[in-house]
Amino acid sequence: MRIKICAGNWKMYKTHEEARAFLHEWNEKILPLPPLRCRFVIFPPAYDLSVFSSVAADASIEFGAQNIHFAKEGAFTGELSPVAVKSLGAKWALIGHSERRTLFGETDSLIAKKVLAAFENNLSPMLCVGETLAEREADQTQAVIVRQLVGGLARIQDKNILSKLVIAYEPVWAIGTGRVATPAQVAETHLFIRQYLADKFGSSLSHSMAILYGGSVKPDNARELSAQENVDGFLVGGASLNPSDFRKIAETL
Ligand code: PGA
Repeated sequence: MRIKICAGNWKMYKTHEEARAFLHEWNEKILPLPPLRCRFVIFPPAYDLSVFSSVAADASIEFGAQNIHFAKEGAFTGELSPVAVKSLGAKWALIGHSERRTLFGETDSLIAKKVLAAFENNLSPMLCVGETLAEREADQTQAVIVRQLVGGLARIQDKNILSKLVIAYEPVWAIGTGRVATPAQVAETHLFIRQYLADKFGSSLSHSMAILYGGSVKPDNARELSAQENVDGFLVGGASLNPSDFRKIAETL
């Protein structure tokens, strides 16, 4: 059985104070509730990683960076070293989010370097894939996902490390739009990803990899999405900013 994962992507929201307040509320109000059988992960903005470093262990929340550079250190102004991220206690790196791809020009070949760097620095990569609306309408969804998976995993030589890989399927048209993919679309695409991974890496490895859905997940639509086969959890943007909404989503897993 794969352990379910409820991950929150805070994007460029929450100051230090606000991040502390979230974790305080989590400790006070959410932790005392009956435990859930899922892993909680938050990807705060880089400037809040240190807040998580000091308190997340008590709050039973894992955390990671929304982006990493592929080099351990160097003259890379504005970038984030995977070594430094790891040394703060992070376990995860979010890689290839559609906002990184479209707004900051990240290509599959850059993403491949980051996926490898995550593994090399003991961070579990959460690799995001997903099609735009135009691509879906042109019946290109599967082709786009294959291109992003082939590209993003191009530098992996030892396939056994992939059991730590998590894929987040996030249709671009569903991110931050309130327009969630239908359960049927989610089921179909997750099955497609699982079969692709099985063909490429073998069925037992493919079954150890979690595939999350992301894109306008909210407490009121999470249950029908989580009921779909091959949905191993969620990557939640907006609704992860509120501790009780985030917990309500996790309760459906
Ligand atoms: P959303 O964002 O839940 O606000 O749509 C999801 C994401 O970008 O990961």
